[in-house]
Amino acid sequence: MKRIINEMKLRLPSRSENEGVARSAVSAFVAELNPTVEELGDLRLAVSEAVTNCVVHAYRDREEGAPAFIYISARIYDNKEVSVEISDNGCGIENVELARSPRYTTGEYGERCGMGFLIMENLCDLVTVKSRVGRGTTVLLRKYLSHGRCDE
Ligand SMILES: Nc1ncnc2c1ncn2[C@@H]1O[C@H](COP(=O)(O)OP(=O)(O)OP(=O)(O)O)[C@@H](O)[C@H]1O
Ligand SMILES: [Mg+2]
Repeated sequence: MKRIINEMKLRLPSRSENEGVARSAVSAFVAELNPTVEELGDLRLAVSEAVTNCVVHAYRDREEGAPAFIYISARIYDNKEVSVEISDNGCGIENVELARSPRYTTGEYGERCGMGFLIMENLCDLVTVKSRVGRGTTVLLRKYLSHGRCDE
């Protein structure tokens, strides 16, 4: 059975400046598993896409001044597995399957490509999306690293 080596929880206000904070925090957190540069780049980009979605979409209709947070919960396991959960309490997604399909976007014309979920899926081993309209969205990213403490 896999064992948790380390855990991290972060709560960040939903601001685009925090995309970099989330990316850097997750990078630092997984460092002890000795990821390759490619694996680290994959994780950083996947986390960025999920956090960007919270910033751009989740709280788009919220009232001025209403609280808007992004919750990040990361774990590393002794089987070289990394899991990162990115959640919001925003508007939610009506049709997750449709939202995950390439080029689907509710974003501004020309500003969004509708490729975020596809990118996450390509960079991670598993992407799970749970969402409830009016309650929020949780994206779980899972990645298995090739080099880790088990190789040492
Ligand atoms: N956290 C979220 N809260 C609410 N809606 C979301 C959330 N994440 C994604 N969505 C919905 O899913 C759609 C697809 O997301 P995806 O990341 O694939 O594309 P995009 O964000 O529109 O464009 P891109 O990521 O290429 O800039 C979004 O347009 C939005 O409607
Ligand atoms: Mg996106």
